[in-house]
Amino acid sequence: MRVIVLGAAAGGGFPQWNAGSEACLRARSGDPAARPATQASIAVSSDGLRWLVINATPDLRQQIEAVSALQPRPGLRNSPISAVALTNADVDAVAGLLHLREGTPFALYAPPRVLQALDASPIFEVVNRSVVPRRAFTFDRIENLTDAAGAELGLTVEPFIVPGKVPLYAEGEAGTSLVTDADDGDCVGLTIMTTQHTCHYVANCARIDAALKKRLVGGDLLFMDGTLWTNDEMILQGVGKKTARRMGHVHMAGADGAIEALRNVDVGRRVFIHINNTNPVLLADSDERRQAQNQGWEIARDGMEIGL
Ligand code: MLT
Ligand code: MN
Repeated sequence: MRVIVLGAAAGGGFPQWNAGSEACLRARSGDPAARPATQASIAVSSDGLRWLVINATPDLRQQIEAVSALQPRPGLRNSPISAVALTNADVDAVAGLLHLREGTPFALYAPPRVLQALDASPIFEVVNRSVVPRRAFTFDRIENLTDAAGAELGLTVEPFIVPGKVPLYAEGEAGTSLVTDADDGDCVGLTIMTTQHTCHYVANCARIDAALKKRLVGGDLLFMDGTLWTNDEMILQGVGKKTARRMGHVHMAGADGAIEALRNVDVGRRVFIHINNTNPVLLADSDERRQAQNQGWEIARDGMEIGL
């Protein structure tokens, strides 16, 4: 299995368009310890030729141009992207589908509620359904991934519900009944497998419960929601009113953080992804980066390649 991190950052990327924080200024100035990052996505392949892209971010066009494995081979129209799988319907997970609108086939896999969000928005009809079939995931069932024509990719996927919430733009509809760690199927994790190896992608997750920990045991590679370092980081930095939990995410540090929750869960490599521009682990010279690494975690970076 080959895995390429297309983007490491949370929604908005790093630096974010409206952020003049010290970290974002450092990223803009070319500081090597503050590497810019695009929005969270990985590509997975069993053969290095045909690729599954997990989540289609607004940065997808730039991500393709940065990674030769995802670029067309000589010829008029083609793409190594055989399938796209979505884990939620937030803007940072789906807007990039609009980049893939030029009539080249791929298979689009998503949970039913994410497909409903796409179906409800006529702009996504530009990704022609007769060329790009929309396929609904069945939770907790292992499925062979195939391209638009039905050819197997050598990858299987098992989608599973993780605690989370409706997309940000749909919170108004939920109103006061909004639950930020509901098990309604708005957010899913994916277990991607070849015959040899297993990778878990859990980049949108509001709570690490016993079921999730059990599922992750024995995996070769875990990509975990690394949105914030502390739950109240955005409030402390004065850039927002929401905690990580309120945003449907976990935080890394402390007794109730992801590092502690997953400490004794047996996985091969553990990598934080979907990292917000306020999270100090984005800075290679931060104490928080050192702490995460000392506890066995890697911090995803754009272009990171992992061969299993
Ligand atoms: C999130 O992960 O919380 C979303 O990306 C928020 C957003 O759409 O900005
Ligand atoms: Mn997001």
